[in-house]
Amino acid sequence: MSQLFSPLKVKDVTFRNRIGVAPMCQYSSNDGVATNWHMVHLGSRAVGGAGLIIAEATAVMPNGRITPGCAGIWSDAHTEALIPIVQFQAEHGAVPGIQLAHAGRKGSAARPWDGGAHLSNEDGGYDIIGPFDEPFDSDGVRLWKQPRMMTQDDIDEVQDAFVAAAKRSLDAGYKLVEVHGAHGYLLHSFFSPLVNKRSDKYGGSLENRARMMLETVEKVRAVWPENLPLAVRLSVTDWDEDGLTVEDNIQMAKWLKERGVDFVDCSAGGASQSSRSSIGNRTAEQIGFAGQIRDAADVMTMAVGTITEAHQAERVIASGQAEIALLARQMLRDPYWPFHAAKALGVETKPVMSVQNGFFVG
Ligand SMILES: Cc1cc2nc3c(=O)[nH]c(=O)nc-3n(C[C@H](O)[C@H](O)[C@H](O)COP(=O)(O)O)c2cc1C
Repeated sequence: MSQLFSPLKVKDVTFRNRIGVAPMCQYSSNDGVATNWHMVHLGSRAVGGAGLIIAEATAVMPNGRITPGCAGIWSDAHTEALIPIVQFQAEHGAVPGIQLAHAGRKGSAARPWDGGAHLSNEDGGYDIIGPFDEPFDSDGVRLWKQPRMMTQDDIDEVQDAFVAAAKRSLDAGYKLVEVHGAHGYLLHSFFSPLVNKRSDKYGGSLENRARMMLETVEKVRAVWPENLPLAVRLSVTDWDEDGLTVEDNIQMAKWLKERGVDFVDCSAGGASQSSRSSIGNRTAEQIGFAGQIRDAADVMTMAVGTITEAHQAERVIASGQAEIALLARQMLRDPYWPFHAAKALGVETKPVMSVQNGFFVG
């Protein structure tokens, strides 16, 4: 009996299996509004059999986008464009999820295939904000833009934007919200001592650096229905001896759980130039960290990082490292990965894909 293909019920939401599509920026939105690309990208992975699909980092306000092509959810036009996509995913059996994000000092960048460096405002970029006023790259080459150090008013504005975005996510039909607290973007950058050098109540001690993330999540939880799951993605290590450790993140996971968070999605890295990327080749180490967080904080986890093979994903679930195995790049190679995984694990394949496909090729 495959654990990977066993359903999971969390509150009022049932995941048909433990396979999730990790959030992946598509850089294909118009002023943050979803396009046909999103229907195909997300829709095909629902047809392919994923239990959960977390839509890409979706900015809660315009300057929260990583690039001008990134997704947003700050107006009714954004919500309306998402509704048919969400409906399609749900019709084909996937739980539709969305990652709500603010890019902080890493915003205003070019798309990766255009080099990924910061864009000046003349070239389509925008002013950026962060917990402190140091740019990401001190050598002035890539992410060179100087963020404005956020005031209390800025903090309130961003938290209100997360709340409004959570309400819009509900209106759009999403069943799971994930708050992006990883990869050096705004909430993680407040938590990480590599970035946050403030001396007010949002800086200094672990408790103070955690405050921005915890207040934001608390406010989101207050408007996100109690019967729907809430996740937070963390960078569970900064991969830097001066940065956040797994122990720091076990504490964060406990605080998040106390505030009604159901899942901690365990990623890593991205805070600073010295910190390893979150899409490197050694992301497999993150899987072990998910198990550590799950045991020590007694919280459900999602594991992510170089999961490519069916038996590997099966082990992640069966060994108790996580409730859900998330795949990113492998899902780009193969939107029908769940179908192929079922075959490899000897699970009945017909019900895995949508009937239009599964009836003929199960
Ligand atoms: C094209 C692409 C876009 C990504 N965009 C996001 C994102 O929007 N939010 C996020 O938290 N992680 C993002 N990631 C990271 C993935 O969610 C995942 O954590 C990482 O790729 C490791 O998983 P993998 O080894 O299965 O690819 C992205 C990765 C890729 C390849």
